[in-house]
Amino acid sequence: MTHLRINPSILSADFVNLEAELQRISSADAVHVDVMDNHFVPNLTLGLPVVRRIQQVSPLPLDVHLMIEDADRWAPLYAEAGAASVTFHAEAATAPVKLARELRDAGAKAAMALRPATPMEPYLDMLGELDMLLVMTVEPGFGGQSFLDLTLPKIRRAAAAIEGAGLDLVIQVDGGITEETILRAADAGATVFVAGSSVYGADDAAAAITALRTAASQDA
Ligand code: DX5
Ligand code: ZN
Repeated sequence: MTHLRINPSILSADFVNLEAELQRISSADAVHVDVMDNHFVPNLTLGLPVVRRIQQVSPLPLDVHLMIEDADRWAPLYAEAGAASVTFHAEAATAPVKLARELRDAGAKAAMALRPATPMEPYLDMLGELDMLLVMTVEPGFGGQSFLDLTLPKIRRAAAAIEGAGLDLVIQVDGGITEETILRAADAGATVFVAGSSVYGADDAAAAITALRTAASQDA
C-alpha cells in the first residue's frame, strides 16, 4: 500500500519559537512551509532568509508551498536553499514547464498547486514534469478554514490521469485536513496531507499526527 505522508504546516505554529515547534512534529514526514507575499494571497508570512534558517535547524525535510506572484523568479531560489520539494501555483507561473525543470535541476522535487477553482485538465500534458500535484482544498491564504468537498472530483480526475499515464507523481491536499476529512481526500487519491491547525492546535502534536495517519488508512 502507498505510504501516506503527513506534512504539518508551521503556519499554525508559534513563529517566535520555530525551532521548538519543529521538534514537536519530528514524527511527521516533512514540514510544510507556507510562503505568502500579500499579493497572490491576502496574507504575509515569511520569505527566503527565514526558510534558509529553518532548513538549517529542521529535523525534517522542507515542503515549501509558495503562495506568491512571480513564481518563475523566486521558486528556484528555494530549491537552491535546500528545500526537498518546492510547490509553485499554476496561477502564478508564466512558464510552468521551464520552472518545474529548473526545480529538478536544482535538486528539489517539483510540485505545482491548483486553487480550488482551477481545473487540472489544462495541465494534463505536463504532469510528467512534476513530482507532486497539490490540489488546494481551501482557498489559499489562511489556516483553520473548512475543507471544500467540491475539490474531491478534481482529486479523483487527477489520480485517474496519473494512473492512466503510468506516472508516479503523488497528489497532495492542503487545507481543512482533520481526522474527519482526511479519509475523503485519501479515498479520492491523495497520499500527502498537509495539516496546520489540526496538528499545531493539539496539545500533543505527535498524537495528532498518529491520529491523522490512522484516520487516513481506514477502509471507507
Ligand atoms: C493555507 C495554507 C495551508 C494552511 C493549512 O493557505 O496553504 O498550508 O496552513 O491550514 P489548516 O490545516 O488549518 O487548514
Ligand atoms: Zn500550504
